[in-house]
Amino acid sequence: MIRRIVQIPNKILYTPCKEVTKFDDKLKKQVRNMIDTMKAHRGLGLSANQIGIPKQICIVQAPQKPLLVFINPKIVSKSEDIIEGVEGCLSVCGMAGIVKRHKQVTIEYQDLEGKERKGVCYEEEAKIFQHEYDHLLGKVYINCAIRVWKI
Ligand code: CO
Repeated sequence: MIRRIVQIPNKILYTPCKEVTKFDDKLKKQVRNMIDTMKAHRGLGLSANQIGIPKQICIVQAPQKPLLVFINPKIVSKSEDIIEGVEGCLSVCGMAGIVKRHKQVTIEYQDLEGKERKGVCYEEEAKIFQHEYDHLLGKVYINCAIRVWKI
């Protein structure tokens, strides 16, 4: 089901999301709705608070890469290498900006069944993940961008 995307300055986008504790059918349905909504808007990623769910869930879909689902993610290490790239956000319509991100991040997270997992994201995937992870911390990219402009 395609959900409406929350826009700034809605408070939910500036509030840290809560840990997921129940790995039930409701969670799977919420993730399904996130995927449907991201695809419908041609996004590369989405966090749960962007569709009004204040939980630590985000999805990442870099071009030509598989869809990744992260529940309760934590960045456990990151490269010293930094890349600067252009970002946009479905919650910040009509804007783009340049953001510095770590080139590589190692993430501990849980899957839809609650199983603990660890993964590494590089470059485009790492950039998208860090954007979504910031959403879960209640941060929006325009507040950490080097430069933003209207598109
Ligand atoms: Co965003």
